[in-house]
Amino acid sequence: MSAIATIRHLLVVRSRANAIFGVYRQGALSGPARRAEQTKVGQSDKTRPQRRLGFLIGSGVVAVTAALWLVSASLPGWAASVSAALQERRGQEVYNASCASCHGGPTGGRIDDYPPPHNANGHTWHHPDCALVRVTRDGSSGAPEYAPPGAIPMQGFKDKLSPADIAAVIAFIKTMWTPAQRQAQASFTKDMCFE
Ligand code: HEC
Repeated sequence: MSAIATIRHLLVVRSRANAIFGVYRQGALSGPARRAEQTKVGQSDKTRPQRRLGFLIGSGVVAVTAALWLVSASLPGWAASVSAALQERRGQEVYNASCASCHGGPTGGRIDDYPPPHNANGHTWHHPDCALVRVTRDGSSGAPEYAPPGAIPMQGFKDKLSPADIAAVIAFIKTMWTPAQRQAQASFTKDMCFE
């Protein structure tokens, strides 16, 4: 055996021994020693209960953040529908007290009745908001030609109702319309009212 071959043989033997010993050494490390070893190579040194606590706190923070976000995102919507419902209720009181005697209730009536029914059977929904406000506030200047002879025009309510009450009574009148009528009237308002 040449000298070079001998040296190579020795090196192979050493590296095999290293491999076997290394595995053995790693496997043989006791718990704390292994943890110390892991810490050295940058792994977590936390114990399992500590890690579970961290996970719970983290999930809690995520859940609270999500809940806060949901509440803040839907709060304006709730507030708007609550204030719309309150306005419609106020409008219903005004309507029953000051308008129903001539204009009737949510049902009945025909399109050519006089005074015109404000519900879905009438033609009130053909007028945009600004026209409804103007007639309620100032009255109509004269009875239209379809009115029966001697009929009186609509009297204005500007001395009896505040602008907020007029807005409320019109909001209530809209609750007597079908969704399609409401949608059509909203688009007339958008096209014709610029205040
Ligand atoms: C004394 C009866 C009488 C009372 C009470 C009355 N109205 Fe009228 N109203 C009329 C008559 C009549 C007309 C039709 C006038 C016209 O077309 O020129 C009319 C027309 C209207 C119109 C025009 C829209 C449409 O369909 O022609 C509106 C809006 C209206 N009234 C709202 C009200 C509101 C709101 C109240 C209650 C705050 C009210 N009216 C109370 C008699 C009345």
